[in-house]
Amino acid sequence: MSDLVLEPSAMVAGGAALARDEDGRVVFVDGALPGERVLARVEDARRDFARARVVEVLQASPDRVGPPCAALATGCGGCTWQHVRPEAQVRFKADIVIDALRRIARLAEPPLLSTQPLTGPALRTTARLGVSATGRAGHNRRSGASGRRRTGGPRPRSPDVVETDACLATHASLEELVAAGRFPGASEVLLRVGVASGERVVRVSGGGEAVHVPGDVTVVRTGDRRSAFVHEEVAGRRFRISTESFFQPGPVAATGLAEAVTAAAGDALTSGSHLVDLYAGVGLFVSVLGAASGARVTAVESEAPAVADAEVNLADLDARIVTSEVGRWRLPPGEAPPDVVVADPARPGLGRPGAAAVVTAGAPRVVLVSCDPASLARDTLLLSAAGYRLASVCLVDAFPHTAHVETVSRFDR
Ligand SMILES: C[S@@+](CC[C@H](N)C(=O)[O-])C[C@H]1O[C@@H](n2cnc3c(N)ncnc32)[C@H](O)[C@@H]1O
Repeated sequence: MSDLVLEPSAMVAGGAALARDEDGRVVFVDGALPGERVLARVEDARRDFARARVVEVLQASPDRVGPPCAALATGCGGCTWQHVRPEAQVRFKADIVIDALRRIARLAEPPLLSTQPLTGPALRTTARLGVSATGRAGHNRRSGASGRRRTGGPRPRSPDVVETDACLATHASLEELVAAGRFPGASEVLLRVGVASGERVVRVSGGGEAVHVPGDVTVVRTGDRRSAFVHEEVAGRRFRISTESFFQPGPVAATGLAEAVTAAAGDALTSGSHLVDLYAGVGLFVSVLGAASGARVTAVESEAPAVADAEVNLADLDARIVTSEVGRWRLPPGEAPPDVVVADPARPGLGRPGAAAVVTAGAPRVVLVSCDPASLARDTLLLSAAGYRLASVCLVDAFPHTAHVETVSRFDR
């Protein structure tokens, strides 16, 4: 392990700062900021690049702050941008999006990014956590030079799980569940609360018979036929959300995203128009936009629990819910193109099958919700090839204190 003095120039996707060593080799430095001078320990050296972690800040950026959450010091890998001033977090995320659009989408002049104001702290109401040897739920320990959490496969039990009573990122109702819950023998738990309803549910995976949670909490196990859900409110609309269904990190983030999608759809939606929502989940966007505009809506989603939730959530609207992989979905023959397509794919983005479904639908306006700037840029290339022009990009800071970037982009043709 060697130590280097480095002067990073930018933040990059994943959350590290980018620097170059004296040979010009790229070094991704965790815990550093652009404009700083740091002493960093190389933890992973490859031929073309290295990964390092700050051991001492020699000259600090004005954007550096002390970490607000004590769990970081005990190794928690949950919020890795706590050393970044909140306003600077948003600026760095915007820079990462612009860089991806320039390099990957080959846009010389990407549209100026706007930022969606949020109604409060974007606290999380769902947490998928590992379980420690003593049965406590917690985030996985920061691992490796980049501080990235482990992904894939069953989550390991202690010592990779950090026990904590306080979590900067979670809503108080969820935080209490993290502190009070005991899940001995389980490998993973999903904890979910409804802020509007006060309901709390836990889904336990990988064994764990003797679960101890506060009396109000509904407990289900992975594979149970019985489903458990909470109810949440976003933009005046009520949502049933099962433990098996995807939902945005919390109601504040969901509201911000729905407002950004509404703004991007603009005046294209009116009573009598048609909105298609691809990767619709429990129907968040079609519910909010359909109710506000009076538009007819089509929701396309592949997962049965989310479809079942969407059927409840959209029952009062003129809604058609289609259970399908987006890549295989097409409008029924003879149907006129929709006025707007909203698409909110998972991290890999639309890819070719998803982009083909969007393009074949033929809407003059597409609103793309992306949770990864590289996917946004790749999807921009695919949509541009079909004649769509990227008109606007809005950043929604749904995951503060992390490098996670969410955008809502409008494409017109
Ligand atoms: C990022 S979530 C967005 C959900 C919804 N828009 C929301 O904001 O709550 C992506 C959703 O797409 C679904 N999904 C993933 N791959 C899919 C595919 N190939 N076809 C259809 N749905 C898919 C997931 O089950 C999930 O509900």
